[in-house]
Amino acid sequence: MLTLTDNQQPIMSGAIHYFRLLKSDYKDRLMKLKACGFNTVETYVPWNLHEPEKGKFVFDGHFDIECFLQTAAELDLAVILRPGPYICSEWDFGGLPAWLLKDKNMVLRCYCEPYLKHVDDWFDAFIPRIVPYLSTNGGPIIGVQVENEYGSYGDDKKYLTHIKEGLIRRGVDVTLFTSDGGPDHMLTGGTLPDVYKTVNFGSAADWNFSQLRKRQPDLPVMCMEFWDGWFDHWEVPHHTRPSHEVVQVFEDMLAHNAHVNFYMFHGGTNFGFYNGANFYNDANAQGYGATATSYDYCALLTEAGDITETYLAIRECMEKHFGPIPYEIPANTTKKAYGKVNFTKQALLFDNLNNLTTKKESAMAENMEYYDQDFGYILYRTHVEGPRGDVGIHLTQIHDRAQIFINDEEVAVYKRGEKQELSRNIPSEGITLDILVENMGRINYGPQLKDYKGLVGGLTIAGCYHFGYDVYNLDMKDLSKLEFKDTIEKTNKPCFYQATFTVDEAHDTFLKFENLTKGFVLINGFNIGRYWNVGPQETLFVPSGLLKEGENEIVIFEQHEAKEPSIEFIDYAILG
Ligand code: GLA
Repeated sequence: MLTLTDNQQPIMSGAIHYFRLLKSDYKDRLMKLKACGFNTVETYVPWNLHEPEKGKFVFDGHFDIECFLQTAAELDLAVILRPGPYICSEWDFGGLPAWLLKDKNMVLRCYCEPYLKHVDDWFDAFIPRIVPYLSTNGGPIIGVQVENEYGSYGDDKKYLTHIKEGLIRRGVDVTLFTSDGGPDHMLTGGTLPDVYKTVNFGSAADWNFSQLRKRQPDLPVMCMEFWDGWFDHWEVPHHTRPSHEVVQVFEDMLAHNAHVNFYMFHGGTNFGFYNGANFYNDANAQGYGATATSYDYCALLTEAGDITETYLAIRECMEKHFGPIPYEIPANTTKKAYGKVNFTKQALLFDNLNNLTTKKESAMAENMEYYDQDFGYILYRTHVEGPRGDVGIHLTQIHDRAQIFINDEEVAVYKRGEKQELSRNIPSEGITLDILVENMGRINYGPQLKDYKGLVGGLTIAGCYHFGYDVYNLDMKDLSKLEFKDTIEKTNKPCFYQATFTVDEAHDTFLKFENLTKGFVLINGFNIGRYWNVGPQETLFVPSGLLKEGENEIVIFEQHEAKEPSIEFIDYAILG
């Protein structure tokens, strides 16, 4: 049996996140992992996906961890499980549920009792589900991680110990481990004396393993996250990594007789609004950047599960070191260009507010979480009384992008951190001010983790607070009551468009959104993610599992303008 703490048999693992691909694709991706010579699959578990509201647990649907574990077991793959509670992973809020932010005094990822109470409730609901899948109970799970790269965030050992003991108390009796960056401060902050330690890196294997050996001389070294590629942010060029580099670092690790987990073997997609974001404050980058919808990662399989050059190169390497692989490489799935679809129906956001949510009256323009909203958009509508001469209108903190309308006309768009220069003469009859704020994804790494959305700190006019709002919480989860009109009119106002299209056979396909500006897409009611014409991503992946033979529905929400009200299904991805 594979064991993390010995290297009789090296662990060759690849990360595949069951929450970044549909259940109907689990088997295909896991078979491709196996056929590349791997013996283990690794996945995180995002708490926010499984407990979207306090006490409401969701374990079924398109993303099904038990089905994933079962499929891995059937293919005789071991599993490394990383249940957090924090997972980072370019996932909204590092997997923490947004409802934690309702309590402004909440302190995250430390021994703060209200936080721990929620973590314990989650573990009580979740851990018993995976106990039957532990290797000690005949299942595939050989290792479970305590927190995630904790040494990159804090140094509260009492907290780490609580997580560790919580796993043990609930029946987790396989190897527990931590994973951290190689620098001393990270290993000092993130490790526990009697828990197996691993390191994460993309290069410099010798140095990272020597750091690890200083603290753990007698156990095998493991790279828990070998970053074979990288994720993309909107507005930043697409990341790629040449396969010879990936092979070289892998060879360096094999020379250490190391266990390796490729992060990612298959990246998949940040469906819906689940993408995370980063906040940079260094020489290379400044400020907030939202992760794109594609999580292709330049991994061994593409976002759509196709074999890459790196896959073939790593497979060759595996055969060189461990002998012939007795499985053929599975074929790529068929991709289909269904062609252009013209939208035939239209529904303006501002005409449909009451069909999407129930208005709340609020003295102050508060953040989203204050109103129990997790994802999507929030609209603050207010009347500003005049007369007031030329006055500056200022949004204190925009998280993350605001469109401002005066008397129904868009007058400005501001991104988080951007300088605002909006000044207006307010006539005696006053103005109606609408502020539509998009939550573009919560920060998932570092000290800015506590990332409230919407307006954080309210709105001032001429330096004075402005009070009295109608607030519309637009989480966009239920669009069934939208009232569509059967004609399309040219508009630059936030607007839904709808069309139906016919599919003969359901195949994987890609949506090219070149006629659109910014928004998100639903296919048969499933949110496949955000699009934005700033790139780098130019297509959205539509897995065959979302399509059906016969009539299918597409709905988009366009925040700005559709150059032409159409979208096209093509048979290849353009990621920039
Ligand atoms: C860290 C985290 C991962 C992921 C990678 C970057 O190592 O532990 O969850 O965010 O960085 O992709």
